[in-house]
Amino acid sequence: MVGCYTNRMHDVPADMLAKIASEIHACTACPLHATRTHAVPGEGPPEARVVFIGEAPGGDEDLQGRPFVGRSGQLLRKTIRETGWREDEVFIGNVLKCRPPNNADPVPEQVEACRHFLMAQLVILRPKVIVTLGRHSLNLLISPELKITKIRGQHIKKNGQLYLPTYHPAMILRNARLEPEFRHDLAKAKALCERS
Ligand code: URA
Repeated sequence: MVGCYTNRMHDVPADMLAKIASEIHACTACPLHATRTHAVPGEGPPEARVVFIGEAPGGDEDLQGRPFVGRSGQLLRKTIRETGWREDEVFIGNVLKCRPPNNADPVPEQVEACRHFLMAQLVILRPKVIVTLGRHSLNLLISPELKITKIRGQHIKKNGQLYLPTYHPAMILRNARLEPEFRHDLAKAKALCERS
């Protein structure tokens, strides 16, 4: 069970992120723990100004214990680099920390059991911009009502946090015509990060 993750001055953010990661690795709160190879807490430095949040680990991520390392991850990471970030200066994570078998969509019970980990990570990271990738992170972090096709590319401020919703990179693999919009959205997120 996760304890208190208020960002206390005497706690080192890197240690706090590592503590959450070890709790994720030990988590048995939902049935996905029984089928995972590795839990995937997410990765990136505590001082990351931008955070990318996807849906859930897929097969490659489950095997490696790292987020976005499969085909859609390669597209995401390449676009991140081409937008002008170094991969090691951004944080990449997911709504769910364990792979749903057959890459099924996350179900509400799984999201409910897992969401406190992501929320705790975000309290520690306090990024300038959170880029939501696809509908699951959009609906969890911004609003359950919003549709990705309507809202993508528009920045939203909610409870003092800036968000930039965009497509999930798997969507770009399925429909390459959307790639310019995806690139545009990441460039907008970068500009927002650089705004004082
Ligand atoms: N899709 C996601 O949403 N997350 C990953 O980590 C990989 C693929």
